Amino acid sequence: MLENDKERALNAPHAQELLHNIPKEQGDQLIQCFLGNDLESTNFVQLRNYFLQNSDFLSIAFANRTSSIPFDWPYKKKKVQKPIDKYLFISDTGQQIYQRFKAVKKEIARLIRQEYNGRFLYLDNLASGVGHDVIDLLVENPDLEGKVHIRNIDIDKVAIQLGQERTHNLGLSEHISFHRINIHKYKPVDADIVSLIGFLCPMNTVKSKKVIQYLASNMKEGSVLVYSTALTTMLADPFVDYILKMIGWKMDHKTPEESGRLLEGCPMMLDYQFFDEPHRQHCMTVCRKIRESS
Ligand SMILES: C[S@@+](CC[C@H](N)C(=O)[O-])C[C@H]1O[C@@H](n2cnc3c(N)ncnc32)[C@H](O)[C@@H]1O
Repeated sequence: MLENDKERALNAPHAQELLHNIPKEQGDQLIQCFLGNDLESTNFVQLRNYFLQNSDFLSIAFANRTSSIPFDWPYKKKKVQKPIDKYLFISDTGQQIYQRFKAVKKEIARLIRQEYNGRFLYLDNLASGVGHDVIDLLVENPDLEGKVHIRNIDIDKVAIQLGQERTHNLGLSEHISFHRINIHKYKPVDADIVSLIGFLCPMNTVKSKKVIQYLASNMKEGSVLVYSTALTTMLADPFVDYILKMIGWKMDHKTPEESGRLLEGCPMMLDYQFFDEPHRQHCMTVCRKIRESS
């Protein structure tokens, strides 16, 4: 990271607004820690405590680093009051999380229509969290009701409970179910479409490949897998990246080509990729299971 990239990030209007809206002592500490990439000194720990006490998003995400619940704010456009939360959600990184959510909903709905040929489909939404994307998808596309059953698979019982409640309240329980299962043990053998969004983002290439290989070997021929990865473009704002690193959110940033190459060695054929426009901080790769060579 070049020093002038960091200076530019600090001088951006939203970053300046954040620094203006927190006490000067913490603002100075933040600048110092950010410029020194400090993630361990006593100064840093004090700063992190301040951030955890003054951000709903960071405190929840820090308590459970893999939780999907913090995403409820951008997905459901919940009102935020605190300056740190406001900053995170107004940043490109925060906005692009919502753009990914929108892009995934749209593309999965299109895929269901594409794959439906009169035979009922199964969509496995792995590491689903609350499953807002697939719930919204059925609400926004009532013509898909009865064409697909969506199984949300996650290990977080809070997320599952919230998803079940929302689904029940919308009268969609017949079409959307929730299952508390570790995805490393789940075999989507009868799924027509498998989605894996927001799960591989922190994983390096070796770990991501293992997950995809496991899924690929347990999917049926012809079925479709959609997986997302975090892109190098996310680093355009190193200040937000630093604030997320404060709570242990470290992404493995890849290029779209690297994301596509995660399929190498798998019985999968790359179909296409789509992105969270306009800034493209996430890459969604769509691929299809092919016959395994014996
Ligand atoms: C960042 S969230 C993504 C949620 C959702 N797919 C989305 O796009 O917003 C990651 C999810 O993975 C789940 N998760 C983490 N490890 C898991 C595992 N081994 N098996 C199943 N779910 C897991 C977490 O509970 C969390 O809900």
